[in-house]
Amino acid sequence: MAIRLGDTAPDFTADTTEGEISFHDWLGDSWGILFSHPADFTPVCTTELGTVARLKDEFAARNVKVIAVSVDPIQSHNEWIADINETQNTVMNYPIIADPDRVVADAYDMIHPNADNTLTVRSVFVIDPAKKVRLTLTYPAATGRNFDEILRAVDSLQLTTNYQVATPANWQDGDDCIISNAIPDEELSEKFPKGYEVIKPYLRTTPQPNR
Ligand code: BEZ
Repeated sequence: MAIRLGDTAPDFTADTTEGEISFHDWLGDSWGILFSHPADFTPVCTTELGTVARLKDEFAARNVKVIAVSVDPIQSHNEWIADINETQNTVMNYPIIADPDRVVADAYDMIHPNADNTLTVRSVFVIDPAKKVRLTLTYPAATGRNFDEILRAVDSLQLTTNYQVATPANWQDGDDCIISNAIPDEELSEKFPKGYEVIKPYLRTTPQPNR
């Protein structure tokens, strides 16, 4: 069944390149990103896994643990890691799940039969510390993902979880935010001491509150 925003992320036990994990226990109190890739020893996947490894400090700064999954077996993953390290100027620093029985792929609906009957598509699930799915992305095999965009989306998720704001189109960390329409005008100066602007009654902005 498809996973929807707000659902509890399915728990599972799986073999990974860093040992067996129980997913929810492995996440602990962190945010999590679970992302699938179609197959080992394929070019786009190789660049994606290397890119995520190079962004380790960015994920850590946001309290995010990342984990990849594909239906290939653990021995294949381990051999492929050597290629990722060699070609992507990095050292792999997060686990890859081996999912030959498609337990994870099925639980997260990562196989889209009309795209490919056996391989997982490029899915991304951002999971919060309460284990709720907060963002999903689905890309086809031939289109590599933009992990800077995923970091940007995590920044927005974490900000909008903690403050009564939303982030506008193409927002970047540090840009002005949109004030929630649930807040009446009379409360704006108390709730947004950095200031605010009323552009339309439904479009009110404020400097980013957590900077
Ligand atoms: C790739 O990672 O390059 C790839 C994987 C499966 C199908 C097409 C491309």
